[in-house]
Amino acid sequence: MGARRALLQCLLSLFLIIEVAVATANFFKPFNVSYDHRALIIDGERRMLISAGIHYPRATAEMWPDIIAKSKEGGADVIQTYVFWNAHEPVRGQYYFEGRYDLVKFVKLVGSSGLYLHLRIGPYVCAEWNFGGFPVWLRDVPGIEFRTDNVPFKDEMQRFVKKIVELMREEMLFSWQGGPIIMLQIENEYGDVESSYGQKGKEYVKWAARMALGLGAGVPWVMCKQTDAPDNIINACNGYYCDGFKTNSNNTPVLWTEDWDGWYTKWGGRLPHRPAEDLAFAVARFFQRGGSFQNYYMYFGGTNFNRTSGGPFYITSYDYDAPIDEYGLLSEPKWGHLKDLHSAIKLCEAALVAADSPQYIKLGPKQEAHVYHVDLQTGGLKYESQSRCSAFLANIDERKAAAVTFHGQTYNLPPWSVSILPDCRNTVFNTAKVAAQTSIKMVDFELPLFSNISVHQQFMVHNEVSYISKSWMTVKEPIGVWSESAFTVQGILEHLNVTKDYSDYLWYITRIYVSDDDISFWEEKEVRPTLTIDSMRDVLRTFINGQLIGSVVGHWVKVVQPVQFLQGYNDLVLLSQTVGLQNYGAFLEKDGAGFRGQIKLTGFRNGDIDLSKLSWTYQVGLKGEFSNIYTMEENEKSGWSDLNLDAIPATFTWYKTYFNAPDGTEPVALDLGSMGKGQAWVNGHHIGRYWTLVAPKDGCQKCDYRGPYNSNKCRTNCGNPTQTWYHIPRSWLHASDNLLVIFEETGGNPFDISLKLHSIRIICGQVSESHYPPLWKWSQPDFTDGSILINDTAPELHLRCDDEHVIASIEFASYGTPQGSCQKFSRGNCHAPNSFSVVSEACLGRKSCFVGISNTVFGGDPCHSVVKTLAVEARCVSSSNTLGASQL
Ligand code: GAL
Repeated sequence: MGARRALLQCLLSLFLIIEVAVATANFFKPFNVSYDHRALIIDGERRMLISAGIHYPRATAEMWPDIIAKSKEGGADVIQTYVFWNAHEPVRGQYYFEGRYDLVKFVKLVGSSGLYLHLRIGPYVCAEWNFGGFPVWLRDVPGIEFRTDNVPFKDEMQRFVKKIVELMREEMLFSWQGGPIIMLQIENEYGDVESSYGQKGKEYVKWAARMALGLGAGVPWVMCKQTDAPDNIINACNGYYCDGFKTNSNNTPVLWTEDWDGWYTKWGGRLPHRPAEDLAFAVARFFQRGGSFQNYYMYFGGTNFNRTSGGPFYITSYDYDAPIDEYGLLSEPKWGHLKDLHSAIKLCEAALVAADSPQYIKLGPKQEAHVYHVDLQTGGLKYESQSRCSAFLANIDERKAAAVTFHGQTYNLPPWSVSILPDCRNTVFNTAKVAAQTSIKMVDFELPLFSNISVHQQFMVHNEVSYISKSWMTVKEPIGVWSESAFTVQGILEHLNVTKDYSDYLWYITRIYVSDDDISFWEEKEVRPTLTIDSMRDVLRTFINGQLIGSVVGHWVKVVQPVQFLQGYNDLVLLSQTVGLQNYGAFLEKDGAGFRGQIKLTGFRNGDIDLSKLSWTYQVGLKGEFSNIYTMEENEKSGWSDLNLDAIPATFTWYKTYFNAPDGTEPVALDLGSMGKGQAWVNGHHIGRYWTLVAPKDGCQKCDYRGPYNSNKCRTNCGNPTQTWYHIPRSWLHASDNLLVIFEETGGNPFDISLKLHSIRIICGQVSESHYPPLWKWSQPDFTDGSILINDTAPELHLRCDDEHVIASIEFASYGTPQGSCQKFSRGNCHAPNSFSVVSEACLGRKSCFVGISNTVFGGDPCHSVVKTLAVEARCVSSSNTLGASQL
């Protein structure tokens, strides 16, 4: 009996120990982080670090593990995120850290993946996030002025920053506790606005630094774009290029907190695209010229779910043209090309960290080398060696290739490119030579492969499955007052002061009396009365007697809206709407929304009517919004009726339907291209605002990677709606009976709403004999002679389908001189006849494959003295589909 009890007790205490160990899980052996002029020093060693920007709330918690894993596989050492104050403290003093705002869970996932974390607390974050991350209630703190030497602001800021630092400490998430956090950030690009605040701005910078350092977090803090960063704070660079960046101190390293690898866009804007060759060039140049930490802003951009999008007018997607796309799929060739680049940089890391600064060698008018060379013992560093040398050769000529001589050897450098030589001899990578595959994503329903149904039948199937529903229900949103919360006062109130941003919508309701005399005056003079407002943002809709008579869209624009009244009392309703609050600039607290200046009706017989003298009734939000019409529990209470085709298009209308989720695990998008403007919810989850605004037809020139990038270069999608697909995360879907609720303002056709599967269907590769062998084949510099080793020098073409997909067909294969690009390949004069069979043999039915680029692989040289290229286009299908098909 006694022995049993002892055993039980022993087991119990073992459980307790395990439980405590899990609760305080250490991801690393505790380590210190410091820095010198060259690099961050992690556990005593300088490191060259690649960081991936991922904002946790722009994905679901269910998506995080995959995105983090893909970042790691892509070569990231660090994950970087902002902290989003307005989401974590929606009401002052009431904190929220659940779901996609579970910051601790996110940081732990990063740690458990063996990656470090850079936490940018801000708490002003910009980030194209609503109000730059500030809670809207912050405007109401008496006497507050944001981001300056103002006591109420500093108190609030300190309280939140402290809260986050303490949370991280309690959860043992700092490096010295065995957690992943190696670095923090206070403020964000304050240097951009500092001068607007005069001396108080300078004081604020000093205070912010003191306050942050005083929290005892035990890891370095950065301020980005802060040329007057105080002692013990690292001033970091943000931009498209940061090579040559100088810090304001002799003992801080060169860190690049935001490498803008794409850009954001507005409703009605074109889509940004930054070419992989230029991005790789920028990163290589950064490390070439002494940089030591580089973060991709964004590595995964994701989605602005809910109303988190900043503004004005930023779209719901935050794809950013990042290496991982909005849905979590790899964006190729960007992801793969950067992965190769990261491997090349890592091969140089030992030399890069060992040398205090590079040796500069001019190789030509626009060509230069930076050589990192160390001799003998470097003492204590991980990469102890006798001699180590790594070099970067750059050709910054925007047009011409160059042949340069370096250490007695000739190197050919394409225009606007950097070659990386980890042993100062062998080129392992050039930024302009993309060997990584291209992936084309299709957004459509996948039909069973190999199915022998006719084209006509396919069309039917397509139609049946793609339209989300044949039966819709509808209910009208009242125009104007809908609840007892409405109130009446004299004058025009500022929009945010009334809504507190609980909704985009604010109704202003009044009555205008029109006499017989007015009517005859207008008829005689052939004039119309006009509503004029000095300035307004973002959207105004005017209703007279319940009818929508005009809309204005703009950012602080003048309104001149002719109106028509009936004799007697007329209901005048102005609906003011925000489309994402301002997230950038000085004095955000004063920015406000809605109307500014004079607001009047002109053209009346007895002169203008000053509308600010009238009595107005205010109603915040939509009835549907506030009665939770979009939730499973509440939606039935809203008096829905069946929707008939003849009832559309209709304005200010709610629609709902139920739909089944598509089988499989591929990401799902809702195609709202048939709708106007509004918001959508799936099973109560707000998937964001939608707006089918079309981008201008012009401004999408052919993209040339050469020369400095800016966000107007290489844009795509001209003449099309900026966004029609809206991500519905898989974890928000059930197999069947998913509730979709839509609020439509301007009129659209819900019957044409469809579901799309977002997946990689076409993959292409194009690798020539002049490319370099795959990076992983090079081994680290040998310890004694410092040279890197390789067995097989042939380049290879690699193809890989996404998870759970296999290569089902080869659409094109030619070894020789193929022309064109992915989906437009054609054979050139030179073509190895067995190209197709060689590639098919290597790839068909496989998830991934590779083919060597050499004559031996293709049974001989198809054309002498010509540089040969292998181009392949293949089709991926979901592996469950091929299985299904073979059972047919
Ligand atoms: C930076 C800012 C980021 C983000 C970026 C543009 O200036 O720090 O938060 O807004 O611009 O995407």
